Amino acid sequence: MKRIIAVLNQKGGVGKTTTAINVAAYLAKAGKHVLLVDFDPQGNATSGLGVDKTKIESGVYEMLLGKTAPERVLIETETPRLDLLPTNARLAAAEIELVEKSGRELLLKNALQPFGHEIIIIDCPPALGLLTINALAAADLLLIPVQAEYYALEGLGQLLEVFQTVKQNLNTKLEILGVVVTMFDSRTSLSTQVHDELKKHFGDKVFNAVIPRNVRLAEAPSHGKPIADHDKWSKGARAYKQLTKEIIKCLQ
Ligand SMILES: Nc1ncnc2c1ncn2[C@@H]1O[C@H](COP(=O)(O)OP(=O)(O)OP(=O)(O)O)[C@@H](O)[C@H]1O
Ligand SMILES: [Mg+2]
Repeated sequence: MKRIIAVLNQKGGVGKTTTAINVAAYLAKAGKHVLLVDFDPQGNATSGLGVDKTKIESGVYEMLLGKTAPERVLIETETPRLDLLPTNARLAAAEIELVEKSGRELLLKNALQPFGHEIIIIDCPPALGLLTINALAAADLLLIPVQAEYYALEGLGQLLEVFQTVKQNLNTKLEILGVVVTMFDSRTSLSTQVHDELKKHFGDKVFNAVIPRNVRLAEAPSHGKPIADHDKWSKGARAYKQLTKEIIKCLQ
């Protein structure tokens, strides 16, 4: 069964793209046919997989507007079974240009119909605007990375409100896949506190795997590679592999 997972937190820099790229890559390594959708105008998932976003003629933006066939946007990455729908900065204009378009919340859902991948992962921008609504309307499941820091839980209430609104009005099948703690630092008690606090709110929806702060994870995008191909023995790699195992169990 085809499953669509949106990786979302409106807070910037919490590890959405790192999570989207590496979970997508480990799912592909586990034998799944995976499509990663770069749905953020910053294009970090595109460049993080070694694709030059300044050279993208037809990307997610053109696909949304129906200016190009969805299949023509797809790029096969160097990781077997992992495909990418790349983006470039033009996607930023979509928020404004689409405001008046009818059915504007369902453009991504419709554009993803032709793809037969088992799992589609959408890397969302750090905002709760029209692009994110499109991602939530298209998704079956929501994966929420939360950075282990003092203000981590702030903003989650607002995120959950948007989730509920979309579920009620646009996409009744939308569920939360889980919450994953990122940039965990075992030397600080704050990290453990954040994990415990999340468990209080989300119960068993919090993944056991926590993603450590790890320099190998931070440098992998500059090599255009998922961590599995950059340094598969690093702590960050092992954590994302573990997280992916838990996700696969949830999908069964
Ligand atoms: N576990 C980690 N350890 C160390 N650095 C990390 C880790 N996860 C992410 N980073 C780095 O932190 C920065 C932000 O991560 P990332 O781009 O994944 O966040 P994001 O939520 O997608 O950001 P944005 O909201 O801007 O899209 C990046 O430079 C990334 O390489
Ligand atoms: Mg990002």
